Amino acid sequence: MPHQKKVHWEDNYSIGIDFIDTQHQKLFEIVNKLYDLEESPNIKEEIREILYAFKDYTIVHFRDEEEYMKSIGYPGLQKHHEIHEQIIESLATIIQKPAKLSIIKTKMRVVAKRILIDHIINEDQKIAVYAREQDTQEEIFSLDEL
Ligand SMILES: [Fe+2]
Repeated sequence: MPHQKKVHWEDNYSIGIDFIDTQHQKLFEIVNKLYDLEESPNIKEEIREILYAFKDYTIVHFRDEEEYMKSIGYPGLQKHHEIHEQIIESLATIIQKPAKLSIIKTKMRVVAKRILIDHIINEDQKIAVYAREQDTQEEIFSLDEL
């Protein structure tokens, strides 16, 4: 049953910043392609393609997320950036070491859980909380101006 082990998007993974939520969902889609794969003669190539697509899109997503953090003056940017670097490194390690499909699937489940779920819930959520606080402060300032 290849579909059983997919990573599922849950409503509480939304952090409320639309473009980030959309990019997170796209990452889920890419990683789930791994779980649709069946053993075949060109399986290595297929795995490779998905892993590279995942890594490339993760890099794009992290860059966009960091630009957003910068734009709102998010104070945790440096720490968050370091976590992103570590994630990219673990992805690069998986890609460089060729392994059997079953092993890759297991490894990617661990990474996907760390990147897509734990990271979203623990770190990305903080960006959203900060962004909302900034919004509230701006509203208070504009009320003062009246
Ligand atoms: Fe992040």
